[in-house]
Amino acid sequence: MSSAALVVGASQGIGLEFVKQLLDRTDQVYATYRSSECELSKLNSPYLKPLQLDLTDEAQIETAIAQIKSETSELHYVINCVGVLHDGAMQPEKSLRHLNADQLLQYFQINSISAALLAKHVQPLLKHQDRSIFATISAKVGSIGDNQLGGWYGYRASKAALNMFMRTTAIEYRRTCPNAIVVTLHPGTTDTRLSRPFQKNVPLEKLFSVDRTVRQLLGVIDQLESRNSGEFFSWDGTKLPW
Ligand SMILES: NC(=O)c1ccc[n+]([C@@H]2O[C@H](COP(=O)([O-])OP(=O)(O)OC[C@H]3O[C@@H](n4cnc5c(N)ncnc54)[C@H](OP(=O)(O)O)[C@@H]3O)[C@@H](O)[C@H]2O)c1
Repeated sequence: MSSAALVVGASQGIGLEFVKQLLDRTDQVYATYRSSECELSKLNSPYLKPLQLDLTDEAQIETAIAQIKSETSELHYVINCVGVLHDGAMQPEKSLRHLNADQLLQYFQINSISAALLAKHVQPLLKHQDRSIFATISAKVGSIGDNQLGGWYGYRASKAALNMFMRTTAIEYRRTCPNAIVVTLHPGTTDTRLSRPFQKNVPLEKLFSVDRTVRQLLGVIDQLESRNSGEFFSWDGTKLPW
């Protein structure tokens, strides 16, 4: 039986490593990037199909999904690794006085709304008889119940919204594509561009390589059952509070 995967946000970091590890367990990996000058472009495999996609642009999502549909009618893994914590102009807010509506909108656009749009358009490719996974990388700091430290308003709130979008998707998918398991996953602090400015106080044993993170997350994914659809898991398989 042939199987296919889609990794969204695969230019670097956790997404790129998902591509590498999924190439070992599936027959075809579709992987998305924004700029062609990225680490993904250095990967060479006849089983890899790179697709250009800015996930905040719904028209681009439609085009990318149409390209996949022209080649296959079934995906078995959809792994969404798109996320932002900081970029040149954007820094996580330490205090209310740092809040700015444009930046907050950007967090929600990239970290929350784009995942819901992906769920909307990828749905037909998950309507099949085999077990499939739709996993989005969230973050423990998006847990409302677990928030003891404060700060990072936009990132936290956008990941909490992401969790709600995926929980709601799971309920609809139960009806429309009942063999798809929808989850959000916390990867643990992982050595990527995203965590680099904040690694100073992270003990070495708690800073994972991308290889370790993805092996751990695939381990969690392998254990998932239908009843887990709509849940939020940490890298070690424990369930996280909303
Ligand atoms: N690293 C950690 O410690 C950690 C901890 C908790 C959660 N996470 C989550 O893990 C996920 C992966 O992050 P990472 O650590 O691998 O960071 P990363 O290396 O910065 O990767 C982020 C990915 O998201 C892509 N992206 C950003 N905006 C996009 C957009 N509008 N459209 C399409 N792709 C877009 C980036 O593409 P470009 O290369 O084009 O920018 C990149 O591929 C994120 O959701 C992050 O919040 C990470």
